[in-house]
Amino acid sequence: LFSAVELAPRDPILGLNEQFAADTNPNKVNLGVGVYFDENGKLPLLQAVQKAEAALQANPKARGYLPIDGLATYDQGVKELVFGKTSEPVTSGRIATIQAIGGTGGLKVGADFLHNLNPAAKVLISNPSWENHRAIFQKAGFEVGTYAYYDAATRSIDFNGLLADLNAAAAGTVVVLHACCHNPTGYDLNEAQWDQIIAVVKAKSLTPFLDMAYQGFSQGLAEDGAVIGKFIAADLTFLVSTSFSKSFSLYGERVGALSVVTQDKEEAARVLSQLKATIRTNYSNPPTHGAAVVAHVLGNDELRALWEKELGEMRVRIKAMRHKLVEGLKAAGVTQDVSYITTQIGMFSYSGLSKEQMVRLRNEFGVYGTDSGRICVAALNEHNVTYVANSIAKVM
Ligand code: LMR
Repeated sequence: LFSAVELAPRDPILGLNEQFAADTNPNKVNLGVGVYFDENGKLPLLQAVQKAEAALQANPKARGYLPIDGLATYDQGVKELVFGKTSEPVTSGRIATIQAIGGTGGLKVGADFLHNLNPAAKVLISNPSWENHRAIFQKAGFEVGTYAYYDAATRSIDFNGLLADLNAAAAGTVVVLHACCHNPTGYDLNEAQWDQIIAVVKAKSLTPFLDMAYQGFSQGLAEDGAVIGKFIAADLTFLVSTSFSKSFSLYGERVGALSVVTQDKEEAARVLSQLKATIRTNYSNPPTHGAAVVAHVLGNDELRALWEKELGEMRVRIKAMRHKLVEGLKAAGVTQDVSYITTQIGMFSYSGLSKEQMVRLRNEFGVYGTDSGRICVAALNEHNVTYVANSIAKVM
């Protein structure tokens, strides 16, 4: 039965973790996967999370099945965080939100839902995009193409190319957009550019699917989420997948969500019923713990403020590490302009290094980034940044 099964290629991001774990280099540094590590190289367990867990523990609950769409207080918390508590779509009940298995799960439920709705539609992702975007939408049955995004020659967004590609797309095309902290490039669209994209999306009847996995890692929760308000103001219907993996440092709990903004409450009820049917035939219903923790924090003013403070500290430390990396590269003798490292935003720097250089970094120095040249600057700290800078300088 299985004799013809081919060996699948290693995952371009998570596969690096396996290789990293097996590496015996004592200086090894994992800048592959998008995970934030603190100043001591440790995965943080946020105080807000610890306090929420203590509160939940003080009043332990049995673990029955959650509803198919997840914990109601969590779904409501997501809506209020992503769209604003008093925003019209939230108060009028025209958003269908489901708890998802991480941001990836939100994307997959959304992709399956959209494919059932319109199997002939195409999907466009940015060039380049998160490695998993293409695979998720292809597995859902879509043909996936790209729209122009990054121009390597100028180290900036090819905005004219982007607009041209969206303008050329057929009505109904699903356009996957990174709401903030573009993965992998670290280059975000500015407000005026978003306005133009929204105008094209509207004029051409495209279906926007926003991926917001890094809210809070650019300027702040409200600032990073502002683009969502622009889509609402333009009176568009759209999808948003969100994740608390990074912002709560709850990677392993798989706490994400999918929200579908519809025209009215009755339409939202129909959409929600379809999302639930998609979930039921996939994993039935989501797990309890992570969502309970997040819902507790979002619903408690004191813990919410503590979480925002801790998220702000992560954001500030990443930015400081970008500057340290630039200083380290200069000290190691790099003369070319590396200021792009501090221009880019979020967890990643798109280094411009070739696949060969990235392989050398890994094999000779134990410094792991993706083959595409992406490195996770959120995993740099005072102890490893000089070593990383020196290693990069040697392969440059
Ligand atoms: C990444 O891009 O490294 C993260 O989003 C983690 C993942 O699942 O790939």
